[in-house]
Amino acid sequence: MTARLIPAACDATGRREQPLRITVNGEPLDGIAGQSIAGVLLAAGRPSWRTGPSGAQRGLFCGIGACFDCLVTINGDRDVRACLRRAHDGDTVHTQRRDGAHHSGDQDASTVPRDSDSPDGSVL
Ligand code: FES
Repeated sequence: MTARLIPAACDATGRREQPLRITVNGEPLDGIAGQSIAGVLLAAGRPSWRTGPSGAQRGLFCGIGACFDCLVTINGDRDVRACLRRAHDGDTVHTQRRDGAHHSGDQDASTVPRDSDSPDGSVL
């Protein structure tokens, strides 16, 4: 799988691009209509946006809604699978931390608390 966006002019399917813009932790990211939230993130060069129980970086794993590695908050709805959710212009996305908080725009996933930091040890 490639994380880059293939320009419409090079796409053999003949698709036309309709641009959209979402914000992720306050940062605007551009995509095209039809992309999933995970697709917009990958095309922007973000292979991970969550931290797993071991502290390992998580992002797209199965890509079909089975593993829940790609959870994000979209327009206030928590635990949305980014691989299944089609991006819409104006969507507001927040990456999630294991303690239930959101990542702030200036915090990268490497500073996300691990399970041992979570008061209840909850699992998403
Ligand atoms: S990548 Fe597995 S559920 Fe989204």
